[in-house]
Amino acid sequence: MEPLALILIGLGALIALGVGLWYLLWLTEGMYLGWRVVALLYDWYAFRYDRTKNYDPVYETFFLARPLLHRLQTEGVAAPLVLDVATGTGRMPALLLEQDDFQGRVVGLDISRKMLFRAALKLYRQRRAALIWHTASDLPFFDNTFDVVTCIEAWEFFPGAREDLRELVRVLRPGGTLLITNRTGTDARLMPGKTLSTAAMQAWLTDELGLVDVQHERWQVDYDLFWAHKAGSSVPVGPRPLAEILRCPACCAGQMIPTESGAWVCLSCEQRAAVGEDGVIELLPLLREGGC
Ligand SMILES: C[S@@+](CC[C@H](N)C(=O)[O-])C[C@H]1O[C@@H](n2cnc3c(N)ncnc32)[C@H](O)[C@@H]1O
Repeated sequence: MEPLALILIGLGALIALGVGLWYLLWLTEGMYLGWRVVALLYDWYAFRYDRTKNYDPVYETFFLARPLLHRLQTEGVAAPLVLDVATGTGRMPALLLEQDDFQGRVVGLDISRKMLFRAALKLYRQRRAALIWHTASDLPFFDNTFDVVTCIEAWEFFPGAREDLRELVRVLRPGGTLLITNRTGTDARLMPGKTLSTAAMQAWLTDELGLVDVQHERWQVDYDLFWAHKAGSSVPVGPRPLAEILRCPACCAGQMIPTESGAWVCLSCEQRAAVGEDGVIELLPLLREGGC
């Protein structure tokens, strides 16, 4: 073969490799490569995440915190127990706890340990917040536990994508509120199987997940908001302590409680979970193959 042809083939292969890596690692942030890659990329990204995002506190309060608290107040939920799935650096917990009229408790869960470390710095000394290192695909909580479940800019990264939203609904109490984003815009079209059109998202939440009062709201250039309720009704859970709601991810049945040493132990299978120096409860090492 001519040297020029070899050079052109080599160049083409390099460009194809570069585009492939850009797509898999940058544009789609590892979402097609499994949760371990997503966690690793967010671990690398954690130290500059807040700087890059540069959220406007007024905008955050006006579009996320106030509408959520307003809805809860009109429903008579004075002190909600909130779960923020894929909490990242603690955006939602910090925002809620900044609101003078938020009387509840908030649990943040994420797969990236370093994102949680950043969240822990933000929530330092906040007695009404807890952070858990675990996957969203298999939430370590009993059914019908939370008054509110939020999931902001995240579910497209979950291994099961829209299928994993079933877990969010499982842990929400009947009548509880779900606040979730849906990715839109050009990038969303480049993520087949991981994103849904507005109509498909509406149908998924209603027909497949059985949610009611599903409402869509335009929010940012690349994300919309969806509000919904879990069908049925039940009395608000309120700010229950973590020791009453944490399900062991190893045996999938036992309740996890704190020990004097600081670790958490399962009352059923006696598996132990460490607590980091930053206070994050490290349940991920207990994850059972195949989930619960
Ligand atoms: C774009 S960030 C959003 C973080 C936060 N919700 C916010 O709005 O700033 C996506 C987050 O999803 C988390 N994540 C991705 N896959 C996950 C999974 N399977 N389980 C739990 N968290 C996951 C990532 O670690 C990352 O913190």
